[in-house]
Amino acid sequence: MMRSLQDTTTLHNGVKMPWFGLGVYKVQEGEEALQSVKAAIKAGYRSIDTAALYQNEESVGRAIKESGVPREELFITTKVWNTDQRNDSVLEAFETSLQKLGLDYVDLYLVHWPVKEKYKQTWKILEKIYKEGRARAIGVSNFTIHHLEDLIADAEIKPMVNQVELHPLFAQPELRDYCKKQEIQIEAWAPLGQGRLLDHPVLKEIADAHNKTIAQVILRWDLQNEIVTIPKSVKESRIIENANIFDFELTERDMEKINSLNENKRFGPDPDNFDF
Ligand SMILES: NC(=O)c1ccc[n+]([C@@H]2O[C@H](COP(=O)([O-])OP(=O)(O)OC[C@H]3O[C@@H](n4cnc5c(N)ncnc54)[C@H](OP(=O)(O)O)[C@@H]3O)[C@@H](O)[C@H]2O)c1
Repeated sequence: MMRSLQDTTTLHNGVKMPWFGLGVYKVQEGEEALQSVKAAIKAGYRSIDTAALYQNEESVGRAIKESGVPREELFITTKVWNTDQRNDSVLEAFETSLQKLGLDYVDLYLVHWPVKEKYKQTWKILEKIYKEGRARAIGVSNFTIHHLEDLIADAEIKPMVNQVELHPLFAQPELRDYCKKQEIQIEAWAPLGQGRLLDHPVLKEIADAHNKTIAQVILRWDLQNEIVTIPKSVKESRIIENANIFDFELTERDMEKINSLNENKRFGPDPDNFDF
């Protein structure tokens, strides 16, 4: 069981990835990204999740440098955007991300979305990047079971991570089971339902019983389900609050109650039907 913010899961290639990290989607390049990433690292976070799409890799890179924490203690994820898959410019996109981040390797490089008729080709480039040691792990995002089956059929290296929308209203039990069998670590995006779950009455009741906030209960539910989680906040007090989940445990009854909230309700786009 995870006992601290820096506890890790071991990916199938042996690389250790923190269970908990900071997401920076919609965090503005400049002061906002710089200050939130620095606040998170100061609070003990060691994992940061960005993407070329977020257009804040430069500030994330600056925050990493200014944090004073040695590079090898941090776990940095970024992702290749759909346009670069369509334009066959995945390798160039990776070089640009590295340059913006000011790094010579990332810890995890992800295929951001399963772009039809492109993702297998993209995966080959990620395999090359991995073999060169410029990404310590490679993975995918927004892949359903059929995308994974299709990719794995031809892949030399199995993805180490699948980052997907996952929260109590969209708990993805079948995908979680499949990934567990395949030794692919599941990672939750929008773990807080992008803020929409934070007044749920059932979660409130559980939170009150533990003297915790709803955000803390959801993030603890992730950890007890062995789901890597990366809540986003630009507010230092919330960055600290979200990580303060290692001093309590949800009971089996709490876990069952939260599991029963699943409505297969996505807030984000459907990986089988997106047009970006
Ligand atoms: N792979 C993908 O396709 C994909 C898609 C979406 C997201 N992601 C990744 O996953 C990360 C997390 O997902 P997300 O940012 O979409 O949503 P999220 O983490 O579920 O929710 C973030 C929202 O909740 C608010 N919030 C955070 N902590 C709170 C707290 N303790 N109390 C009240 N409100 C709180 C934030 O506001 P403030 O900032 O104002 O605190 C923000 O509006 C992203 O940042 C990104 O790194 C990946």
